[in-house]
Amino acid sequence: MKRRAVLGTLLATLICSAPLLASAQDQKPPLRIGIITEMSGAFADYGRQVKSAVDVFMKEHGDTVAGRKVEVLYRDTTGPNPEAARRQAQELVSVEKVDFLAGFGLTPNAMGAAPIATASKTPMIIMNAAATSSIVMRSPYIVRVSFTLPQVTAPLAEWAADNGIKTVYTLVSDYGPGHDAEKAFITAFEAKGGKIVGSVRAPMANPEFGPYLHRAADAKPDAIFAFVPSGDTGVQLLKAYGDRGLKDSMRLITTGDITDDVFLNRIGDVALGLITSHHYSMAHESPENEKFVSAYKSMFGADARTNFYMAATWDGMGMMYEIARQLNGEIDADKAIEIAKGMKINSPRGPVSFDENRDVVQNVYIRRVERRDGELYNIEFETYPDVKDPGK
Ligand code: PHB
Repeated sequence: MKRRAVLGTLLATLICSAPLLASAQDQKPPLRIGIITEMSGAFADYGRQVKSAVDVFMKEHGDTVAGRKVEVLYRDTTGPNPEAARRQAQELVSVEKVDFLAGFGLTPNAMGAAPIATASKTPMIIMNAAATSSIVMRSPYIVRVSFTLPQVTAPLAEWAADNGIKTVYTLVSDYGPGHDAEKAFITAFEAKGGKIVGSVRAPMANPEFGPYLHRAADAKPDAIFAFVPSGDTGVQLLKAYGDRGLKDSMRLITTGDITDDVFLNRIGDVALGLITSHHYSMAHESPENEKFVSAYKSMFGADARTNFYMAATWDGMGMMYEIARQLNGEIDADKAIEIAKGMKINSPRGPVSFDENRDVVQNVYIRRVERRDGELYNIEFETYPDVKDPGK
């Protein structure tokens, strides 16, 4: 009797724990994403932008994909610091065993991490850094979902030449993406018969823009073309443009980095009427963007703003989830890159695809800053469809 009772209990225990044992065996390890970006210093807002977009994406799409729980690890480069980005990428792949590297607001940081992606065979998704295809050529494991400066700059130069601007002075930040924007503008503008009357490069962080703007104005061009990285630097450029009373005498055209949707209300009325070119506007009219903006507002409140780094992060997260889904959670770098290259994304910015260099192909829009319902927005009025990076 007693023996039978013991056997019965044992059997019951075994039966009850069988599903537990099976589920423990089935349990897949977490899918780890290592995000390297700027979270302190002059470009600290980039970190906030990426993290908010990751949070919104995971709220909307869940924190599990292909049976793996998604874990996101952040590393702060503290600014343009390729050596820190390289070290952090190394630590993320070898100690934390991440499945993907992602993020990268600034070009130098993407450049720093690229050799680690190659050596460790880790897919690396660039969510902002925008120098030429020199970035994606650094590693066969890089895919860029953001944009390239030549890609957004050449259409603006063409638009300027087609719209009565005959002479231009260029003003860019003195680092890779600035040099790329300068070259792309000059090449496309001159090809259309425009004339460059001067070019100047300002320091990347905290420059005093007044003297540069005055020097440009002295050359009496029809317009100044400017690129600086988004955030405080753009705000400073437009403040100097407004404070020095140049707005009435000197036309300014820029890439959309300077009228970043996140900073636009802070920049204020001096931005009104500015013509810029870029790949994403918070005011882009499409069901995908409406969904993206309203997901943001439902998480962060009615005043929340969305911008291009957030849109690219949203798409980059979508890309990693889709790769994981297609590979049933087993991330093989070569297979992941093949899948990414063939992707067609219905992005909040419009249709997105990828070229033979794993670089983003997308619409570029010409926009004007306008006030709508008391807030400033980049209102798109012309589209250059399916633009590729024009190459070296
Ligand atoms: C870059 O460093 O590649 C970069 C950063 C911010 C921008 C554009 C490009 O707004």
